[in-house]
Amino acid sequence: MVIERFVDPYTKEPLERDERGNLFRMDGDGRVVYANRDGCNDFVHPDTDLAKERGFYDDKYSGIESERLTLHSISRPWVDSIYPHTRFLLESLGDLTGKKILLLGNGSSFKEFYLLSLGASIIYSDLSIEVVARMRSKFKRADFAGTWDDSIEFHAIDALHLPFPDGTFDIIYGWGFVHHMEDLDQFLTEVKRCLKENGRCRFVDDAYSPLWQFMKRTVLRPVQILFHRKYGVSPEDQRATMRGGYRYEEIVGLKERYGFRDIIFIRKSFFMRIFWRAYSKVFGGDRRSMGRVKPIIRLLNSLDGFLERTAWMRNNSIFLVWGFDT
Ligand SMILES: C[S@@+](CC[C@H](N)C(=O)[O-])C[C@H]1O[C@@H](n2cnc3c(N)ncnc32)[C@H](O)[C@@H]1O
Repeated sequence: MVIERFVDPYTKEPLERDERGNLFRMDGDGRVVYANRDGCNDFVHPDTDLAKERGFYDDKYSGIESERLTLHSISRPWVDSIYPHTRFLLESLGDLTGKKILLLGNGSSFKEFYLLSLGASIIYSDLSIEVVARMRSKFKRADFAGTWDDSIEFHAIDALHLPFPDGTFDIIYGWGFVHHMEDLDQFLTEVKRCLKENGRCRFVDDAYSPLWQFMKRTVLRPVQILFHRKYGVSPEDQRATMRGGYRYEEIVGLKERYGFRDIIFIRKSFFMRIFWRAYSKVFGGDRRSMGRVKPIIRLLNSLDGFLERTAWMRNNSIFLVWGFDT
């Protein structure tokens, strides 16, 4: 068991567990219940404002691949030289031995299982109950099944309402997900509350790139409309696309406002990032097929590396690792 105690995500009152694994609290004569579905507790209130967003992702994830995971497939995104970006993120997480990590909005991404092999324990979560239940069963069928079973739990969680007591985690992590948060105030208040002293939060999103924003509004607009029609876009993602990524000043402002100690803001890559996004959209996130385009990725990595010598291009790099230390 990774977490001993849960709290009601909305009222923060302690929850108890029944014999079926449901979590509940008494409310007058009745009970408020966070049901256990296939080993995952669903902490998202059915009347949430996020019902549309959740519905979109429940549908999207109902067709995720059922390939058998191996140690190779979960470690490759962190160690293969064609993905230099992940290295920054991994290094910035520090030594993971004995660390408790909360993965938020983790969708169908399995590379984070690798963090277990580095000694961490994990709460794997997403807004969609569909995807966490599927990822749990994928984990149980992996060729490393049984190795880290006591170090991971899977739950459906709305990142704006975390069901954990104060100071529970060493690390809170989200890849491609914070830009979905319309209410950054509430989100970071929850993140700060649930982090231990000397904790870290680390996120991967897009940085604001004037060039990329200009391209999206002009030459790439028809392609964007076509992609959104064909592959769909969630309501939150649509808002974030129009707004553009995060700026350094904005992140500094958040650090001051929430009293975090240190700030991380690392941006990289323009052409590689655009290619990666387009390719994974068209091929439906089939990460294996990335192997087939390795030479193109290498070329684009080199091009980005060369161009990033100029301040102008550095200010247009899109891939962003950001976060704070408490
Ligand atoms: C673009 S996907 C990224 C998924 C995954 N991190 C990855 O890298 O493939 C965004 C994810 O955020 C989740 N999400 C959206 N709003 C959320 C919220 N309020 N709380 C938790 N997860 C949320 C969605 O269900 C979706 O899985």
